[in-house]
Amino acid sequence: MRTSFAPNRRPAGYPAEFEQWIETADGRTVFARPVVPDDAPMLQREIETADTETIYQRFFRAPVRLDAAQLDRLCRLDYDTRFALAAFSTDGDGVAIVRYESTEPGVAEVAVVVRKEWRGLGLGTALLASLEEAAVERGIRRFTAYYLPDNAAIEALLSDRGFTTGIRDGEVSFAEKDLSPDGYVEI
Ligand SMILES: CC(C)(COP(=O)(O)OP(=O)(O)OC[C@H]1O[C@@H](n2cnc3c(N)ncnc32)[C@H](O)[C@@H]1OP(=O)(O)O)[C@@H](O)C(=O)NCCC(=O)NCCS
Repeated sequence: MRTSFAPNRRPAGYPAEFEQWIETADGRTVFARPVVPDDAPMLQREIETADTETIYQRFFRAPVRLDAAQLDRLCRLDYDTRFALAAFSTDGDGVAIVRYESTEPGVAEVAVVVRKEWRGLGLGTALLASLEEAAVERGIRRFTAYYLPDNAAIEALLSDRGFTTGIRDGEVSFAEKDLSPDGYVEI
């Protein structure tokens, strides 16, 4: 069992203050930290071993193998307009990832995936709260999210976190949340 998952190499601007232990509802702990370029192999493994339904729910398409450039883009972040947190079990396995990508000044789209065996334990909620804190500090004023209309789990999670959900946008549903202008985030 490892006790630290801090990255060996920290890119410029790496916000170490977002490294944290999170206790799950069943009493286990996971270590969450900002994603770094060296996480690309971990992310590739996670995507390759995820079930088809999860890939559909996250990417709205059948599983595909991401090439090196796509993986690198997902892991090489400026921690400002593009930010992501990954969570690891004490065995070192990736168990969840949340990210935001700014789509226009002050607005960012969020995405979240928790490994099937780790769902329903509050991880998605905790990571999204942390992501929101990072976003507010970096001047993001609105979060948006797209999800498949039958995805009750993400709709409930977003609704719990104060998003207005269920706005239909073609084949997908849309949710949005105005973030606190005074930097206060409800955890
Ligand atoms: C959506 C997802 C991220 C939720 O993560 P999670 O860690 O299981 O969520 P939490 O444990 O924090 O649950 C938060 C709330 O969501 C709701 N929820 C969770 N799973 C649910 C389910 N299967 N059905 C209905 N509501 C559900 C509950 O209201 C829960 O609150 P509660 O525990 O107080 O009842 C996870 O199911 C997932 O990874 N799905 C596949 C990827 C995906 O759909 N991403 C969204 C598109 S970006």
